[in-house]
Amino acid sequence: MPEAVPYVEHLKKVPIFGKLPAKELEYVARSVKERVYESGTVIVKEGDPGLGFFLIIEGRVDVSHKDHRIREMGPGEFFGEMALMEEAPRSATVTALDRTRCLQLVRWDFRALLKENPDLAVRMLEVVVQRLREHPGAHDV
Ligand code: CMP
Repeated sequence: MPEAVPYVEHLKKVPIFGKLPAKELEYVARSVKERVYESGTVIVKEGDPGLGFFLIIEGRVDVSHKDHRIREMGPGEFFGEMALMEEAPRSATVTALDRTRCLQLVRWDFRALLKENPDLAVRMLEVVVQRLREHPGAHDV
């Protein structure tokens, strides 16, 4: 697939993916689908079933829970991991603030990637825990 190579370059710039072996990066690059969302588009809706994991490659998004803003995210950051890890509904709503380009991995590819790459799983967990520390009560409101 010719589009895999540019995605490898994007993935290398994503902090949690940067250290993956080249073969694995290529595999991920072949598994992702590029998605473009116009400003104002709801990418992930709280309460919906979770089908995808998203890496932002361009643009910014807002993460909100019950109409309370939790944070913004931009290039190199990811979202949508919680519903896929837990097999539970989306915990928050993620809305594009600009025209936003993401790489999307579907549930089964995401879970297989974590199982095959424990270092990646640990790095992702570190980011998730940091986010939780920054907003410990985000989901109590
Ligand atoms: P998920 O629950 O699949 O869909 C909504 C996403 O918003 C969630 O995964 C996380 O990626 C993100 N999210 C939820 N809560 C927080 C939080 N407290 N801080 C940062 N991001 C969050």
